[in-house]
Amino acid sequence: MGDRPFPPGFFDRADPASDDEFYAPTRLVTHIDDRAIEAVGALYEELGIDGEVLDLMGSWVSHFPAPPARLTVLGMNARELEANPMASETVVHDLNADPRLPLADESFDAAVCCVSVDYLVHPVEVFAEVARVLRRGGPFVCTFSNRCFPTKAISGWLYANDEQHVEIVTDYFRRAGGWGEAVADRRTPASHSGDPLFAVWAFRSASVAPSWAGCETAPHGG
Ligand SMILES: C[S@@+](CC[C@H](N)C(=O)[O-])C[C@H]1O[C@@H](n2cnc3c(N)ncnc32)[C@H](O)[C@@H]1O
Repeated sequence: MGDRPFPPGFFDRADPASDDEFYAPTRLVTHIDDRAIEAVGALYEELGIDGEVLDLMGSWVSHFPAPPARLTVLGMNARELEANPMASETVVHDLNADPRLPLADESFDAAVCCVSVDYLVHPVEVFAEVARVLRRGGPFVCTFSNRCFPTKAISGWLYANDEQHVEIVTDYFRRAGGWGEAVADRRTPASHSGDPLFAVWAFRSASVAPSWAGCETAPHGG
């Protein structure tokens, strides 16, 4: 994708209504199968994710094999977040209405986002914000499969295949700035017949983009 603008319509969604409506019903379900969930937890463990951790676009389950020292879970549905046994703190915040995180600079050791990056309409701004709230060297781990709520996923994701999804997330890190080179991996074996699990992660570098306000996916008036 390089430095070119995203293609027209890339961030369009079949359901352009406010995310409040779609996420109002409480869904105490899992969105990937047990093997894929295990793969998420194994990656968190391998990367040594602990300390003050942010689970972005979270729900009632955060997939850590053991709870981090302090876990902040940000999502859309208060009842789902309240049901999360690992959460030390919950934040209801619509990242598509406002990609700014209501969180202090350099206040987390790590951040994760599981099976949700495809719903972001301002991902570059959100990735820049995650860099802002992480301490230097902190990882941001994005995991995803090949399932989604299709009316809420961006068109650019729906029309892409697994390999292109990895490229899209890698591109978000690069465009956001404030990140070292992203690493990508398929975390379930190619022979696995269930939900595949892909991951892209990067570590917060010394320099953080000064502001996302001028980014090309910034909301009007943002
Ligand atoms: C498929 S679920 C994944 C939940 C959880 N991360 C997991 O692994 O089970 C998508 C999540 O994204 C969150 N989400 C969707 N749109 C959002 C938005 N605009 N701002 C913040 N969170 C959002 C929802 O609250 C929901 O919990």
